[in-house]
Amino acid sequence: MSGQRTLLVLGGTVYLSKAVAKAAVERGSRVTVAARGASGEPPEGVEFVRIDRSSPEGVAPLAGRSFDAVVDVSRIPAQVGPVLDALADGAGHWTFVSSISVYADPSARGDRTLEPSSADETETSLELYGRNKVTCENLVRERLGDRAFVPRPGLIVGAGDNSDRLGCWPLRIAEGGEVLAPGRPERQVQWIDVEDLAAWILDAGERGVVGTFDAIGRPIAMERFLHGIADTLIGLGVIEARPEFTWVPQDFLAEHGVNPWAGPDSLGLWLPEPDYDGMVSHDPESAFGAGLATVSLATTIERWWKANADAPRLTAGLTREKEGTVLGIWHDRERTFEVPTPENFVGP
Ligand SMILES: NC(=O)c1ccc[n+]([C@@H]2O[C@H](COP(=O)([O-])OP(=O)(O)OC[C@H]3O[C@@H](n4cnc5c(N)ncnc54)[C@H](OP(=O)(O)O)[C@@H]3O)[C@@H](O)[C@H]2O)c1
Repeated sequence: MSGQRTLLVLGGTVYLSKAVAKAAVERGSRVTVAARGASGEPPEGVEFVRIDRSSPEGVAPLAGRSFDAVVDVSRIPAQVGPVLDALADGAGHWTFVSSISVYADPSARGDRTLEPSSADETETSLELYGRNKVTCENLVRERLGDRAFVPRPGLIVGAGDNSDRLGCWPLRIAEGGEVLAPGRPERQVQWIDVEDLAAWILDAGERGVVGTFDAIGRPIAMERFLHGIADTLIGLGVIEARPEFTWVPQDFLAEHGVNPWAGPDSLGLWLPEPDYDGMVSHDPESAFGAGLATVSLATTIERWWKANADAPRLTAGLTREKEGTVLGIWHDRERTFEVPTPENFVGP
């Protein structure tokens, strides 16, 4: 029997869970990945076990097996019970990847979480997402007790991202010209690099870190974010100089059909104020105290660019046509605004 560490990743065929499995292989662990195999391929070097966790029978191939650590990313409460029944007793450490979407009030920093959904909930939807995560967290903590580690990530960015909420920015900036920048330059943004999160999850398993944490980097101003991306692209030889950023107030953007955060006609990562003040001001210090380490923005952009720029999925971002239209109306508005002079000034 070797002293090789054993890790089970429930998932492991896409994005974060795949990054965890890949990084664990690179660390020399014996890695098992269990999924249906519907979303993608597991990374090289792992044992793949085909399961469908929607029923106890579906997880039978794993029943009775023991692992030093288990990592789960589920979004569906009814799919958590079967894996806990099969594996909790034989797990040294259990990571459940939750989300900052568990918090009840996105407008304020706070600890209050949403009402949990039912433990036998089988549906997943945008409306149920946060409530489902609360329920999944509770099920894991109840069963694993002091072996449970529950990181709550904010926006995860990096290679394999299927939403490109960050990626739309380096791609746009690389095209040059006048770039529409949203809201106030001081407005904060926050994210976590997928590789940093994967590394922290593995470290936590190895060091026995337990508890519940917001898993997010320190917030920075949107202007620093956009300039940092431009400077990184200059360093990579993609562009020669920072483009011109035109800052347009959020109300004007809303009036002209520019959406925040994600999806069509959006400016990725950006969240309006004050409704989402809580979403961009999570306190990561307890996570940093528990071993989270984050790379610089430049490293994240460089990683993203090398992994995704050739074939971005781009489900976020504005078309150049839409951006040009909005900028045009914004400048027309500036031009038609008559600057008061001492001669025509009408007092209050
Ligand atoms: N993306 C973000 O910005 C963000 C932010 C905050 C939190 N999070 C959380 O971070 C985690 C991301 O996880 P992820 O990147 O690995 O993506 P994911 O889409 O949550 O992956 C789900 C995994 O579970 C497997 N799976 C789904 N249904 C299954 C079933 N019935 N039986 C067995 N396996 C099943 C999938 O593989 P198969 O389909 O092949 O079975 C896949 O590998 C999630 O927990 C998400 O809620 C994400």
